Parts: sequence; structure tokens; C-alpha cells
Amino acid sequence: MCGIIGALCDHDVQDELLGSLRRMEYRGYDSAGVCMLNGGSFQQAKAPGKLSNLERKLADRPLSGRIGIGHTRWATHGEPTIINAHPHISSSVALVHNGIIENHHELRTRLSAQGCTFVSQTDTEVLPHLLEQKIRQQELLDAWREMLAELEGAYAIAAIIRSLPGSLWFARKGSPLLVGRSAHGVYVASDALALAGLVDEVMYIDDHEWGRLTLEGIELYDLSGKPVDREWEPLPVAAHDAEKGGFPHYMLKEIHEQPAVLRRILRQYVREGGEIMFEHASFLHEKPLPKRIVMVACGTSYHAALTARYWLERYLKVPVEVDIASEYRYRDPVIGQSTLLVVLSQSGETADTLEVLRMFKQHTPENDALALCNVPSSSLAREADGLIELLAGPEIGVASTKAYMAQLAVLALLTLFMARRAGVMPEGSLSEHLAGLERAAAAMEGLLADTSAVRRAAEQFADVRGALYLGRGPCYPMALEGALKLKEISYLHAEGYAAGEMKHGPIALIDGQLPVVVIAPRQYHLEKVISNLHEVQARGARIILIVDMPETGRSANAACVLRVPEGDYFSTPLLVCIPLQLLAYEVACMLGTDVDQPRNLAKSVTVE
Ligand code: AGP
Repeated sequence: MCGIIGALCDHDVQDELLGSLRRMEYRGYDSAGVCMLNGGSFQQAKAPGKLSNLERKLADRPLSGRIGIGHTRWATHGEPTIINAHPHISSSVALVHNGIIENHHELRTRLSAQGCTFVSQTDTEVLPHLLEQKIRQQELLDAWREMLAELEGAYAIAAIIRSLPGSLWFARKGSPLLVGRSAHGVYVASDALALAGLVDEVMYIDDHEWGRLTLEGIELYDLSGKPVDREWEPLPVAAHDAEKGGFPHYMLKEIHEQPAVLRRILRQYVREGGEIMFEHASFLHEKPLPKRIVMVACGTSYHAALTARYWLERYLKVPVEVDIASEYRYRDPVIGQSTLLVVLSQSGETADTLEVLRMFKQHTPENDALALCNVPSSSLAREADGLIELLAGPEIGVASTKAYMAQLAVLALLTLFMARRAGVMPEGSLSEHLAGLERAAAAMEGLLADTSAVRRAAEQFADVRGALYLGRGPCYPMALEGALKLKEISYLHAEGYAAGEMKHGPIALIDGQLPVVVIAPRQYHLEKVISNLHEVQARGARIILIVDMPETGRSANAACVLRVPEGDYFSTPLLVCIPLQLLAYEVACMLGTDVDQPRNLAKSVTVE
């Protein structure tokens, strides 16, 4: 949720701190701050709102120092004010934090009774005071170990200590953290993108690890204080990954990257001759097929899983359960034997999804857990038994687009792979479906080359307060996703519904002011969808129709028709992604919202 950065260099670090915060702003953007240590005193600057407010402040009154920390915040405890913005400081410790300290109340009460003065409403503020108190009583390393042992909840921490200008401190439990090094400095950050262009090598910090960086190297410890030895590895991202590449928004850039992402996925997982290989999920190749599949995720990733349920059940004939992670983890699910867990996540750091994985591994270690994830260094990717990487490249727009399409593509391949292993799909059909996916990449390019029809469709939303999305079969979850995309970035209320369920309630909403997006490709029960369309049309709705056959569009008398090329059972949803995403994007641009950083949201939800 929040982004943290720390830097210790042989030069002034203010610009580097700001650059890293800029690349991490998608993690949270309701306030930001930096603190630098120079000549034995802390200098700090904080600003509510976007990072640009802090940048303006620092342009007027720059700070200086070779060591510093910075933070971009997504508020959990306390409003997004200057006082609550990080860094938080005691007399000799300055600290930034991502996560939630669950026992902060108890710690605050105890520290207050011992004379500490708190100024913010945050949970974080207990940390510098607690560390300060421990440092007064014992050796520094013992102080850190003792402080961490007292904390409940989740944290990624970067800290500097007034008397030690040559050490940058860090600790992790539950929230992502890595360190990096170059010839000129050492860094600690919430994600690799923050370090793009700054370092050559990184080291991922595991839960319950902590330590310090100096210009000479790293000291890494486990919770008991035992030194940990780990190799450095090359930084996995480049500085240009964090650029907009000439597009006005990251979201539009990422929508346009989808044909390349699809091709990358097919190149990576499909061998010559049509063999599908998942190198980092060897159990899929070696063990008997599961008798049951459970798929768990949040938000957009959950929608991708819902579409895959149709595919997997149709071909594998095994029960497939799909649930939202925050529900699954608290509902005492019956897991059973021979169950494959599939956890899906763009970031791989979503707290609820991670917890489901951990719970599953603890309760049924005999079962396998597969992660479908875009960040191979993430906690989810590393803790699962196998990984199918989404290969979408860094996704910075808060509204997920290319990672969703990548999930669908990978899930289509997983279905085809399992269907072949189960002996239920003839080779001929398999190669036809693979060819269909190949064709979808070129078809997407065609759709992206001319987006004027989507722009016209967006005009239907100029004077409305909400919208309804309808679909059936694998396109029903796409209706959910289309509605979520619109909600997230345009702030219009939108609901996705199974087209056949619409007359059981939501039909009451329909009048001439309600745009209804009807997803009606040939593949999925077209005639039934068309009769649902007539039902809403009869009540005067403004229909925006997404079709793949021109005749469906001609006969429908819709306000707008958005045409996608005809796909097959697996490739059709991939093609439908494009108009759904573009429509939300165009509506948001028309309404003038902050497309890449919509209000109240953050890219990666690392707290419960
Ligand atoms: C997508 O547009 C959303 N921002 C959100 O629903 C997201 O998909 C969800 O938070 C899950 O994230 P994850 O895929 O990184 O786990």
C-alpha cells in the first residue's frame, strides 16, 4: 500500500529519494515525506496529497544529506495530513513504515506512560519511540531484535539513526522489501521499480529478517539475531519500465501492450509442436491431475479466475471452486484431498490472497498450490509450490488491464495443458485453440489501431450516474470486470450481472438514462443474451453492444456497437478485454478523473 525508500550514498540523495517515490507513487498517493540526516540533525519535509506537492516544497527549500528515507502513503490509521505523513521521528530515530502495527495501541499507552509524546494518529509513530527506548537500554543490534519481537502485525521498515550516519536500517514482516546496491550507494525499497536506474543488484528480504546497510555491505539477520547469508541478484526491471512511453497515461500504455504480452506468454509456454510447458510448476507435469481445483484471488484477479472456471469445468470435468480471498480465509473451507489451489495476483503481495496460500499450505501440506503472478520475486510467487509468471511487465496504472488479460491467457493455456494431460482434448482441437490465441494478438492490434468507436460509445456516459454490464458464461465475469474498471477510474456506479439474472432485480434500474453494456459474442449463448438485450431495450435502456458478428450488431438497434474480431472458446474473452478497458478509460478521460491514480485506491493491497 505505502511505498518506502531509503538511500545511503557517496552523494546527496534527495533527488534519488524523490525519483524512487515517483516510481512507487502507484502504491499510495495521499501524502508523502522525506527525512535526511546531515551534520547530526534530521531535516524533513512532508506534504499531504500527491507527491508533486512534496516535490514543489523541496524545489523551494531543498534538503541535503547522503543518507535519507522517504515514503508515499495510503492511509490506514489517521487521515492523510502532514502530521500523519511519514517519516515519523523520535529524538534520535527517523523511520518509514508500510503495513499495520496491530498492537500499536498497547505500545502507545505504555510508551506514553514512560514519557513519550505522540503527535500523530498513526500506528507507525510507536516504532521510532520504541526503538529509541530500546537503544538507550542496550546494544543497537539487541535493541532492534527486541523491538521487532514486540511487534504484532505487518511491517516493512526503513530507518536512520541520528548518531549513525553511515547505516541504513531495515526490517520486514509481511510487507514487501528489498535492498539494492551500486558502486555509489545502497538502498532499501518496497519494490524493484523504485530502484530502477539506481542499482545493478538487489537482494529480496524475507519475512522476519532485518539488518543494516553500509557503503561497505549488508548485515542481514533472522528474528533470533542469527546472521543470514544470501546472494545478490540482477535488478529485474529497467528505468524505462516506469515511463509512459509517449502515452498520456500508464493505463493506456498498458492496454496497448497487450498484444505483445500475449505473444510473450505464448512464446514462453508453448513449445514448437504445441507442447505446453510450465517450467516453474513441475508438479503440474509430474503428479496426477487434481480431483478438485480451488481458485482464490481479489478484485480483477478474482474475475479472471471466474472466467477460467467455465473453461476448466467444461474440459476437465472436475469441480472448480472460485472465491474472494478475504471471504475464503475466514469461512472454514473444506479443502479435501487431491485439491489444487490456484492463487492469482498481479502484485503477489495482496495480503488476503497471501494468507489463503499460507493457510492452505498449513492445513493441507499434501496438496499443491500454484501461483499465477506477475511479480516473480513477490511473496506469493516464492511461497507457492509452483509459479506461472504472467509476463505482463510492470503494471503501474492502478486499474489492472494487461495483467488481467495475461491471467486469462495463462489460464487458457493451463486449461489446454490439463485437458491434454487428461486425454480429453484431441491434438487437432488443441492446436486450433493455440492458433486462435496466436490470432488474438494480431486481432487486438487491429482493435487498438482505431479506437474511435469506443470514444463515441463513451459519450453515452456523459450525463449518467451509473451503468449496467451484462454477459453470460465466461463473459459474465467479464461484465463484472468491465463494471469494476468503470467504477475504479470514472467513479460512476456500475454493476456487472449475469444477463439471465438481470430480470430478477436490476431490471428495475433501467430507464433511458442507464447505459447497459451487453457483451454478446457468438461463443457464449448468443441467442439467450440477445433475448436479455431485448428485455432491457424494451425498457428504453441505452445499449452499448459488444459483438463479434456484424449481423448481431445490425439486428440489435443499439445506441453503439463495438465490434471485436471473432474468436474461439478461449480467445474471445481476451479480445473482449480491449473494448471493455478502453471504454472505462475513455469515460474516465471524458469525466476528467485521475486515471492512473484514482481516488482512495492503491495498486497493491498489502493490508487486510
Ligand atoms: C484492479 O483494477 C484493482 N485495482 C484491484 O481489484 C486488484 O485487482 C486487486 O487488488 C488484486 O490485486 P492483485 O492482483 O495484485 O492481487
